[in-house]
Amino acid sequence: MRIGFIGAGIVAQTIAKHVLPFGHQVMLSNTHGPDSLGQVVEQLGPGAAAGTPQQAAEQDIVVLAVGWSSAQAALFSIPDWKGRILVDATNRVASYNPLTLGDISGRTSSEIVADLAPGAKVIKAFNSVPMSWIDDFSPSKPRTVLFISGDDHEAKRPLNDLLEQVGFCSVDLGSLAVGGRLQQLGCHLNPAREG
Ligand SMILES: NC(=O)c1ccc[n+]([C@@H]2O[C@H](COP(=O)([O-])OP(=O)(O)OC[C@H]3O[C@@H](n4cnc5c(N)ncnc54)[C@H](OP(=O)(O)O)[C@@H]3O)[C@@H](O)[C@H]2O)c1
Repeated sequence: MRIGFIGAGIVAQTIAKHVLPFGHQVMLSNTHGPDSLGQVVEQLGPGAAAGTPQQAAEQDIVVLAVGWSSAQAALFSIPDWKGRILVDATNRVASYNPLTLGDISGRTSSEIVADLAPGAKVIKAFNSVPMSWIDDFSPSKPRTVLFISGDDHEAKRPLNDLLEQVGFCSVDLGSLAVGGRLQQLGCHLNPAREG
């Protein structure tokens, strides 16, 4: 499977390290161009490549792995997803110190991502696990639970299969509106007061 990443930071590199040993190919991207990722790609090893965000968005499964404040700009350059799978790994952090959450006006952050990615089958995944919890890439790594949510049942299947293959336990929480809310930062808040 070819997995594209819009973003090339901690999330993109951590997921890449999990899938590469199973023969999958990854393409990472950022705002500075593929040449800026030469060292990252070299360290990831065979199967890893760098590309533009548009090239990454052409892969079989695409992971959105940018900060919340960059999501709109990152998705703006991809006008039509043509039914491809977009995995939203973002958390709606507006600022870290102090921690403030981005305004989503009572919706879920992944529904907003879906609006920004016309034609994409959006699945929320990876966001609720700090990457430092899954930085064991050995064959004997702990079988960590990863939650997934999305409105297209069929689209979840390849992601579910990928997660199970590389050693995670995938748990489907339902739609973006219901499961996405359970998964997202601030899920304990009353939606009416969530902002
Ligand atoms: N770190 C974690 O443990 C963790 C866990 C779960 C979820 N998350 C969430 O996952 C997302 C990514 O987190 P991270 O820790 O990987 O962040 P990060 O290390 O800061 O990486 C963000 C990446 O996005 C790239 N980027 C920024 N704007 C872009 C754009 N317009 N187009 C393409 N690439 C762009 C950045 O590259 P340039 O700035 O060089 O372009 C960088 O490679 C965040 O929403 C975070 O809340 C993080």
